[in-house]
Amino acid sequence: MQKILVSKIKDFIDKEIALQGWVLNFRSSGQIYFIQLRDGSGFIQCVVSKNEVNEETWNNCNNLTLESSIELSGVVTKHPKKDEYEIQVKDLKILQIADDYPIAKKEHGPEFLFDKRDLYLRSKTPWAIMRIRDSIFRSITNYFAENDFIRFDTPILQPTSCEDTTELFSIKYYDEGKMYLTQSGQLYLEAGIMSFGRAYDFGPVFRAEKSKTRNHLSEFWMMDAEMAFCDSQQSENIQEALIKRILKDALENCKIELEILERDITLLQEIVKKPFIRMKHYDVKKLLEEKGMKVDYEDDLTTEEETAIGDIFKIPVFVEDYPFKVKAFYMKKYTDERGMERAVNTDLIAPEEAREIIGGSQREESYEKLLEELKKRKYKLEDYEWYLNIRKYGSVPHSGFGVGLERVVRWITGVHHIRETIPFPRTLNRFKP
Ligand code: 4AD
Ligand code: MG
Repeated sequence: MQKILVSKIKDFIDKEIALQGWVLNFRSSGQIYFIQLRDGSGFIQCVVSKNEVNEETWNNCNNLTLESSIELSGVVTKHPKKDEYEIQVKDLKILQIADDYPIAKKEHGPEFLFDKRDLYLRSKTPWAIMRIRDSIFRSITNYFAENDFIRFDTPILQPTSCEDTTELFSIKYYDEGKMYLTQSGQLYLEAGIMSFGRAYDFGPVFRAEKSKTRNHLSEFWMMDAEMAFCDSQQSENIQEALIKRILKDALENCKIELEILERDITLLQEIVKKPFIRMKHYDVKKLLEEKGMKVDYEDDLTTEEETAIGDIFKIPVFVEDYPFKVKAFYMKKYTDERGMERAVNTDLIAPEEAREIIGGSQREESYEKLLEELKKRKYKLEDYEWYLNIRKYGSVPHSGFGVGLERVVRWITGVHHIRETIPFPRTLNRFKP
């Protein structure tokens, strides 16, 4: 008899098969057991009728507990109208009877579930979220492979800061002194594209921001992309195509998962077909002011402002050219018609309260200007010698961006808090298990 995965069940209607998995739930009506089995690939109802099975199988059913591991065999049947399948069980064996499972069916608070994260990951909601996360990860790597990028892994231990506007975790490095956990591989990617033209990295990054918002993690996964001979507008084109690819793949391949999460996908389906909005930071602030918000033209966008942009446009918006003083040292800058120094950058703001999902910019390609900025910010020049070399030997206009994986997962899954989007979250007040 063939052992199969629940995800392949459609191909085995009326056939006898074997499954291995865990008991998600069960109920009995005296003569029949209904067992909800999960095997990692999906969920299925298995029906055990007392007068169809031998005594051993029936006794095993009587001993079942939540999360016990089992093996069973039976015949696959299909619901006459719906796309639903069942197993009419012939034989059931127990691999292990699980102890009293702490996550029972009753409602638990989120803190309890995160304390028991190792077990809670078995539940349907995290199962669906992690599978969508996997789809997004795959869409990103496929998109880049198909668009002439090479994967270029950047170091996690770094001697300097990349994002000077956010806090770093530091560690003692042998007898050499301090090193930092990376905030972004961008600076190293800039060196990489002088060899490969287009490159991206994908890995964990770390931010010691004392931020308690539902959009901040201390450890998260970032994909940085960097392109030589590319300006900010061309970079936005790539970002837009990438996000649309991610959405399209998720809508196509994660139907079951989105259903489990009860995600209303109407807006996501529309977004795939429409061009994203591109708007200057100044114009965005002005619009929000006209809508009655109190805004600061010289500052970053606030949480409320980013949320409002999403609600107004209901499609991702590239907000361009922030005040330079709130942005990182490496960005190209110019002085606008009102005399304000601005960065040639874009943050991509997603709707449905998802807020900033990508941060990117055109990089300063002039050796002299970059040197001047490093001096202005009082950075140790010897630490940046290698980075300055990028501008010394064949400098070219180049741009790049960083996608926060969990921010995208939060948007597509529609979950409330970003900690739901990573297997074992690290935040200001959560670092176990
Ligand atoms: O905007 P950020 O700080 O940009 C950079 O790090 C650039 N060096 C990227 C580049 O140009 N290659 O971070 C990029 C993205 C943000 O847009 C956001 O999606 C995500 O990373 N992000 C966070 N996600 C979760 N928790 C946090 N604390 C985050 N901080 C940033
Ligand atoms: Mg940012």
